[in-house]
Amino acid sequence: MNVFHLSAECYPVAKVGGLADVVGALPKYLHKKIGQASVVMPKYANEWIAEHTFETVLKGTAPLGDWQFEFTIQREVDGILGFPLYVVDIPGRFDRPGIYTDAETGSSYWDDFERFASFQIAVLDWMNGMEEKPDIIHCHDHHTGLVPFMMTQCYRYMDLKHIPTALTVHNAEYHGSYSHEKSHKLPQFDERNFGLLDWDGQLNCLAAGLKTCWQITTVSKSYMKELSYNSNGLEWLFQNEQQKSRGIINGIDTEVWNPKTDSMIAHSYDKRKMAEGKRKNKKVLCEQFGLDPQYPTISFIGRLVHEKGADLLPDLFQTFLESEQSVNFVVLGTGDRELHHQFEAMNNRFVGYFDATLDYNESLAHQIYAGSDFMIMPSRVEPCGLNQMYCMRYGTVPVVRNIGGLKDTVKDIALDGGYGITFNDFALSPAREAVQRAIDLFQDGRTMAGIRKRIMNLDFSWNASAKKYITMYDELIEQ
Ligand code: GLC
Repeated sequence: MNVFHLSAECYPVAKVGGLADVVGALPKYLHKKIGQASVVMPKYANEWIAEHTFETVLKGTAPLGDWQFEFTIQREVDGILGFPLYVVDIPGRFDRPGIYTDAETGSSYWDDFERFASFQIAVLDWMNGMEEKPDIIHCHDHHTGLVPFMMTQCYRYMDLKHIPTALTVHNAEYHGSYSHEKSHKLPQFDERNFGLLDWDGQLNCLAAGLKTCWQITTVSKSYMKELSYNSNGLEWLFQNEQQKSRGIINGIDTEVWNPKTDSMIAHSYDKRKMAEGKRKNKKVLCEQFGLDPQYPTISFIGRLVHEKGADLLPDLFQTFLESEQSVNFVVLGTGDRELHHQFEAMNNRFVGYFDATLDYNESLAHQIYAGSDFMIMPSRVEPCGLNQMYCMRYGTVPVVRNIGGLKDTVKDIALDGGYGITFNDFALSPAREAVQRAIDLFQDGRTMAGIRKRIMNLDFSWNASAKKYITMYDELIEQ
């Protein structure tokens, strides 16, 4: 079987969030099991791409409305990722360092639609000319949502119409929504089906993909259910497409996330050396931020945005920092400017108990997973969430809101066989109660050690979920 994953991100080539981690890992597992699983993504002007060698597979010209653009499909020569990686070079569109935003201004690129439309058109032109066509085309999020539309509707791609498409929704908060004028930039299609592109009077790339793909998946079962009543305006569409939808929980790349071999952490450890490994890594982390390691360390890693509930953190942490309680809080991430200001003020105010690093830093993230006692995720929306699985692999106990993928992967310690701390409502007082439960757990050394052992024994690898994707591919091919 020959599957192509189309995505804007893929770790370690280009990463903004969890999408990259999934697209960088799932194909690796699939590739071993089914023969051929490749990733196709835009060729950004970033360091990783500059440091690796690519060979040209195809040079072409394709239309974007009245204009023609040039593109090159290139393949990474050394196969360093464990699966074939193809990048699409489109001069003038992707030869910039940012994936979605300009790092200097922090705003989206003005030609967002044109960038991803030309990427998708170039990919389909390439596939159109392939002698052996792909068996499955697997799209990820709205940046590739026009692919199923074009494959079923554009005259130019009628030879691809029979190929099954899957669209995985990693985040339905973002739709790729534009004025309908932009639809003239797509290759010609039957105007009577114009409505397939539409949602609420706009050209909506995610909606178009959901309507026209063969199979919708999302990254947890609970999130699949939630989308029918909470998907930023697409609720009715998700309800309508339920028959072709399924939730498959993400796995994690257990090669990248392995405390035994992780070169990004100060001291490697495994289950047997867990207590010592945690202690040593915590010491390093606390020294770096001037914290006292005898207190519990509770960390947050992620984008500082509404969706992740990051706006709850300043008040939540301050209620503890202002009281007599001895606890440390660590934050790593970037996002909302207002939150940056609040965390900067807290850095000055709570020296010795609090540190926020307002940056994207992959290796610091690993050290935080290894050195913390708890990881907090108060998300408003969480399609799957990977951090709770990463932290458990490092013996760090998750404190999470009971939603989406968090609900499907974290079982509360109050339940039989439980191993995490959960809370239901998105509000300060339940979150405060959860943090208090974490502090109490920390003080009960024996129970804490038992929970750590339990979480380090859990299997969150891709093995089980990759199998579910393969079954799904088989079913689609049979259709
Ligand atoms: C998005 C979601 C996150 C999920 C990830 C990978 O970043 O917000 O919950 O884990 O995609 O699917």
